[in-house]
Amino acid sequence: MPKPTRITAIIGSYRKGGVNDTAVDEILGAAAEKGAKVTKIYLIDRRVSFCTNCRTCMQDEDPQRGECVLPDEMAEILNALEQSDAIVMACPMNFGTVTALMKRFIERLACFAYWPWGMRAPKVRNSARPRRAVVVASSAAPALVSRNSSRMVGLLKNAAGMLGARTVGVLFIGQAAGRPEPELSARIRKKARMLGMKLAAGE
Ligand SMILES: Cc1cc2nc3c(=O)[nH]c(=O)nc-3n(C[C@H](O)[C@H](O)[C@H](O)COP(=O)(O)O)c2cc1C
Repeated sequence: MPKPTRITAIIGSYRKGGVNDTAVDEILGAAAEKGAKVTKIYLIDRRVSFCTNCRTCMQDEDPQRGECVLPDEMAEILNALEQSDAIVMACPMNFGTVTALMKRFIERLACFAYWPWGMRAPKVRNSARPRRAVVVASSAAPALVSRNSSRMVGLLKNAAGMLGARTVGVLFIGQAAGRPEPELSARIRKKARMLGMKLAAGE
């Protein structure tokens, strides 16, 4: 029997059961129906410290990520993502970009770059993209407006790239702040399910 596709979703929303969480459930639900092994990581539940710019993790030239000195759960999260075949990065738009929760996580991806003292700019350690990614984002404004006026999708794709994943789909959910309880349209649910099946199939 072929090994099931392992998919890990990372959620940068401050609330569970919200728009991003619900969209991720649709994606992972469809993927699980196709036999994928799915996991959800809520950043809000995890102990992730701010990068202190000590650059200890960036000093050694190695294709593997550098080791961070901070005693938190970041290494455990990165291990889970690196052991996955596909990842989902989901985040609401707050003040025109990703939430502070997601930004704090993304800044910690510095360990995937080599930047010893004396070198002008960082270099990504490994440009291989063995994984696939789906990016989910949501905003109060219509999706097209938010997507075109912000670098948010690019930032999430870039973060996925640092994690060794090539983005194969984007689900941008606009008009997502009209009610306290999220209600995804049939079109969004359909697209979310299609993306889940695509990830499960290894496409
Ligand atoms: C502090 C804050 C800032 C926000 N900033 C924006 C914004 O700049 N543009 C926008 O369209 N929506 C903005 N929103 C609306 C959120 O994007 C929306 O509520 C969110 O996508 C819902 O996702 P969730 O249910 O997963 O939390 C903001 C909401 C909050 C609470």
